[in-house]
Amino acid sequence: MNETKHNLKIFTTVNEVRAFVREQKQAGKTIGLCPTMGALHEGHMTLMRAARKACDVVIASVFVNPVQFGPNEDYDKYPRQFDADCKKLAAEGVDAVFHPTPEEMYPAGYGTYITVENGITDVLCGARRPGHFRGVATVVTKLMNITQADKAFFGQKDAQQVAVVRRFVADLNIPVEVCMVPICREASGLARSSRNSYMTAEEKQAAVVLSRSLRKAKEAFEHGEHTAETLKTIVRAELETEPLAKIDYVDLYTYPALLPVDVIDEPCLLAIAVYIGKTRLIDNVILGD
Ligand code: PAJ
Repeated sequence: MNETKHNLKIFTTVNEVRAFVREQKQAGKTIGLCPTMGALHEGHMTLMRAARKACDVVIASVFVNPVQFGPNEDYDKYPRQFDADCKKLAAEGVDAVFHPTPEEMYPAGYGTYITVENGITDVLCGARRPGHFRGVATVVTKLMNITQADKAFFGQKDAQQVAVVRRFVADLNIPVEVCMVPICREASGLARSSRNSYMTAEEKQAAVVLSRSLRKAKEAFEHGEHTAETLKTIVRAELETEPLAKIDYVDLYTYPALLPVDVIDEPCLLAIAVYIGKTRLIDNVILGD
């Protein structure tokens, strides 16, 4: 175990986390977990702050989880900057960070995976990234078990991920409260993401079209347009004004069940995935909340 000057404990093994957690629980402390893949930005920090407010002890994890990446995805080039991450976590008053190796999480002989099979992983990013949510559900379950967290914090940026986590937590009776934190954006409207660092300045400017398209649809919704197809058309039309943007999907489902919907009469998720150059970005808005 290592300690930075701000008293952030750095753990690389499951046993170290377990010993720390045992101590904290014995002292009657509540534990908040913020799972991340690192390359931390302000979006991640909003999770840390929410956890800091709600829990006595905050544990972040920084682990680029190989199991949730497809063979042609960006596992190898995903940004890794652990020292800078630790400085940011320490500055937010996070108590401990768990930074395991892939071998610590998936040792030889590893063979257990969590799959959510009620259809919510068959749409949106689940449909485009086979196995992605199996990898997410597996690692998040492990992190919840390792940290014995009372509350776990996730961003609305990945709204389908939150729906999946809520589902398996309920289905498997995991004693943790899942908390969703709103999307943190740059002043331009661009949702903050570790993958924004892949873009050139010109691409970042073009990427503002994602949030702009969703804002237009939200405005139309608030003015009484509740037909799903029309709202999707508004988003597509705006995205098509940007030459660098290539639509992966524009979709609208009930939230959190992620069922098809024609006319919105309950909370719904309007979600998009768009390539700006080679970078795949996602964004969303919840309508009728
Ligand atoms: P990562 O992409 O690092 O995101 C970690 C958490 O930060 C997620 O809950 C994500 O929704 C949240 N987050 C990212 N950008 C945000 C933003 N702009 N506003 C609010 N929250 C934001 O999501 C993952 O990692 C992984 O799938 C993980 C859950 C760690 C499992 O490996």
